[in-house]
Amino acid sequence: MQRANDIKTPINVGKEITIRGWVHRLRKQKEKTFLLIRDDRGGVIQCVFPTQQVVHLTIESSIEVTGILTADDRAPEGGYEIRGNSLKVINIADADFPIGEYQSAELLLDNRHLALRTRRMIEIAKIRSTILKFARLFFIENDWMEVTPPIIVKGAVEGGSTLFKLRYFNEEAYLSQSAQLYLEALIFSLGPVWSLTPSFRAEKSRTVRHLAEFSHLEAEAPLASLEDVLRVEERLVSYIVHNTVRERSDSLIFLKRDVTSLKDIEVPFDRISYYEAIDTLQSRDFKVVDANGDKRPIRIGDDLNIDSERELTKSALTPLFVTGYPIQIKPFYVKEDVQNKGIGLSADLLAPGGFGEIASGGMREDDILSIKKRMKIEGLDPSSYGWYIDLRRFGSVPHGGFGLGIERLVRWLVDIEDIKDTVLFPRTMSRIIP
Ligand code: 4AD
Ligand code: MG
Repeated sequence: MQRANDIKTPINVGKEITIRGWVHRLRKQKEKTFLLIRDDRGGVIQCVFPTQQVVHLTIESSIEVTGILTADDRAPEGGYEIRGNSLKVINIADADFPIGEYQSAELLLDNRHLALRTRRMIEIAKIRSTILKFARLFFIENDWMEVTPPIIVKGAVEGGSTLFKLRYFNEEAYLSQSAQLYLEALIFSLGPVWSLTPSFRAEKSRTVRHLAEFSHLEAEAPLASLEDVLRVEERLVSYIVHNTVRERSDSLIFLKRDVTSLKDIEVPFDRISYYEAIDTLQSRDFKVVDANGDKRPIRIGDDLNIDSERELTKSALTPLFVTGYPIQIKPFYVKEDVQNKGIGLSADLLAPGGFGEIASGGMREDDILSIKKRMKIEGLDPSSYGWYIDLRRFGSVPHGGFGLGIERLVRWLVDIEDIKDTVLFPRTMSRIIP
């Protein structure tokens, strides 16, 4: 079967072409009708028929068209069109296809199953798939083993407030927030491992960068240092960015993404400490909203959030690691820096251009007494983490890893404000259909 983007070359002019696809746009004139046909790779080509031959066609009807390829500067999408001879109808679509040229974001989300046929969503989907391809290739090339940890779990990783509970036969279970604890179990026999799983967070606040279900790429390695972890993280991100920009340049141009700054990304990424970050924010008079809704200057001990990260990265051109957060604002598993008490051996990776956090990683607490203590401080019961604590009983080693949010990466690479547009079927507090 011939496809739109393959046939648009001078050597095909004058040749007979057959193409199958869907009526993407339809402009009926008295004599002639102009169809824009979309094929099954998202490519489009204009096709012209005498109007009386296609009066019955509607938007999204599926058809097979045969005709002669001609070059015509007036034809959209590259200056080629098919002068149609014969037309086979596969299915005539109902006339009320709800997606037109200008639609509210809500209507597009309500009809996401159909909005996925828009050019914008097609190009985003291609970029997303390329990002996943190069993520996998990076790990294959570097000899990390891909593993498939469970999604139904018994324990919280990233705090109880965002857990989705479910009934698991006769007991309570949760949807996984992160595969990290399982990856930690695997490094003792499989070495460096990675996984791509859905992670779930019952995020109750509506933000442009939180989903209830997201694609989580996580990696973990034994006998690693923080330096090792950050190096892998930055090499992975830079590899994905460069290869995606190269392979999907057409899609990025279509989406009007200026890729100059992406092409300039180099390792090592910049690094600042949490204390430097707070200092910078204070020097810019940055305010946070406290629990009572009042604004006050940011201070040491405040976690970074969407607003402070936007401020920190809005004029940055390359990604930035923020290291050395106070241990009490990080989860129980983060290892404390023995040389620097109170500081966690972890780092968040912030994307430039105001996008903020795309990954979190670091060293894991490998000492049995310390981890039990940290669990109690966080209100977790060590007895429900028996298997995880065992990992510190039998051959504990320094180890670390990270988790990267695929949607956050797409959001930055494509330059999309709302994370819902980086995923095919977004899940948020207010949306589970389609
Ligand atoms: O920073 P997070 O919560 O870290 C972890 O889950 C670690 N256990 C990962 C690890 O070390 N193996 O999540 C990691 C990344 C975030 O940086 C963000 O990119 C993404 O996952 N993420 C979300 N993406 C979309 N919607 C949400 N609600 C997200 N929560 C986290
Ligand atoms: Mg994080």
